[in-house]
Amino acid sequence: MAAPSLLPLLLPFLLFLASPYLSASHRSFLKLPLLHRPSPSPSPSPRLLRRSPSAKYPVKSGAPFGAGQYFVVLHLGTPPQRLLLVVDTGSDLVWAHCSSCCGGDCSRRAPGSAFLARCSSSFRPNHCYSPSCRLVPRPPPSRCNRTHLHSACRYEYTYSDGSLSSGFFSRETVALNTTRAETETAARLKGLAFGCGFRVSGPSVTGSSFNGAQGVMGLGRGPISFSSQLGRRIGSSKFSYCLMDYTLSPPPTSYLIIGDGPREENATSSSLAFTPLLANPLLPTFYYVGIKRVYVDGERLPIDPSVWSLDERGNGGTIVDSGTTLTFLAEPGYRRILAAMRRRVGLPEAERVPPGFDLCVNVTGVRRPRLPRLSFEMVGEAVFSPPARNYFIEVAEGVRCLAVRPAETEGGGSSVIGNVMQQGFLWEFDGDRSRLGFSRRGCAAS
Ligand SMILES: *[C@@H]1O[C@H](CO)[C@@H](O)[C@H](O)[C@H]1NC(C)=O
Ligand SMILES: *[C@@H]1O[C@H](CO)[C@@H](O)[C@H](O)[C@H]1NC(C)=O
Ligand SMILES: *[C@@H]1O[C@H](CO)[C@@H](O)[C@H](O)[C@H]1NC(C)=O
Ligand SMILES: *[C@@H]1O[C@H](CO)[C@@H](O)[C@H](O)[C@H]1NC(C)=O
Repeated sequence: MAAPSLLPLLLPFLLFLASPYLSASHRSFLKLPLLHRPSPSPSPSPRLLRRSPSAKYPVKSGAPFGAGQYFVVLHLGTPPQRLLLVVDTGSDLVWAHCSSCCGGDCSRRAPGSAFLARCSSSFRPNHCYSPSCRLVPRPPPSRCNRTHLHSACRYEYTYSDGSLSSGFFSRETVALNTTRAETETAARLKGLAFGCGFRVSGPSVTGSSFNGAQGVMGLGRGPISFSSQLGRRIGSSKFSYCLMDYTLSPPPTSYLIIGDGPREENATSSSLAFTPLLANPLLPTFYYVGIKRVYVDGERLPIDPSVWSLDERGNGGTIVDSGTTLTFLAEPGYRRILAAMRRRVGLPEAERVPPGFDLCVNVTGVRRPRLPRLSFEMVGEAVFSPPARNYFIEVAEGVRCLAVRPAETEGGGSSVIGNVMQQGFLWEFDGDRSRLGFSRRGCAAS
């Protein structure tokens, strides 16, 4: 692996831009509608990226991972092909399932299920000796014939449950609708580094839990993420989103905004609460935040703050991840929260508890069930107080379960604030200023 300190220097080679609208001298940003598809059944398994083959995190259990994911549409190639990608702040790589066929019976075999690399005139695999190839985890043995013209850069990206995307780390043109001064402009961004995945396996990235998506848009802090690559061009690696509550009807629209876009009506910077983003040199992908105290119905729980923090070996910590559905909290913090919830819930527990949940209440016939209020006091005095529907989810008619699970303890045991917990808030990830902003008032109803 390349020394991490060299990475920023390599980036200018990765990206070329056709449009004058996406340049650092103009304040421009990218606005993509966020789509959501709930999974057929919410599963409690976490999904954390295992950053590189050298990471010491063991592969976690292959338990099926429930989606409940958020997606964006990206148009890749020349002519553009429409792809649906999972929005994931917990990984860096942008990748799409690739197929080497083009034309003929090809479209019948894989209608919109993969990126057809041979149908695109702008598709370029990186050479294995190119500097950008050092930015991705490579499969063993990763020999590179420096003089051979067609030695493509192979990559192998592994997620924490053993799911895998492997293929050629390539460059391609993206068609984007960018917004500048509220005018939509079609732009073509050349040279987006992405993984063309020919071997894709595992529960996180295939099957029903992937919900028909063709790949992942990694928005992590590393240099190859979509936000980092665009940030080099538009002068800001900031991005923000609102994850709307998809159980609302009609489902509201929200956007992933990359760059320094305008905030929604009511979310001025004064209404955002900020907490510093913490860095873990061993796992530079993740957005870590610091939790100081946890409250249930205003009662401060006796949890040592070290439960939530990174230790000197880079284990633990608390990350904010749009690609994980439920929330996972480290022990013994989780047990304390569960006990406090149980003590205060004041509703009968459900007779049959679905597997994977520790506390389910029966709200049959209760018009406005009062559920305990959970809040997290973060470093920087920011207090995150999600509404109860962000952590008591309806799993069956009249049954609501605590959508929080104990974090896996082996090999790290990071706490993860998942996407259900994030719903209804505006989240602003500002890597340049190393801070995370959030606001309950940031999601316009439109
Ligand atoms: C590298 O590629 C060149 C050109 O194709 C070839 O002549 C040479 O034998 C290759 N070297 C190795 C070690 O495979
Ligand atoms: C851009 O926006 C127009 C109209 O809103 C839409 O028809 C078109 O498909 C969009 N293109 C891309 C690449 O998203
Ligand atoms: C919930 O309570 C109702 C009665 O109030 C009962 O009929 C029903 O079986 C209970 N459901 C569960 C899952 O416990
Ligand atoms: C903005 O705030 C006003 C007053 O508090 C409220 O009436 C309005 O609904 C809010 N708009 C949005 C989009 O949240």
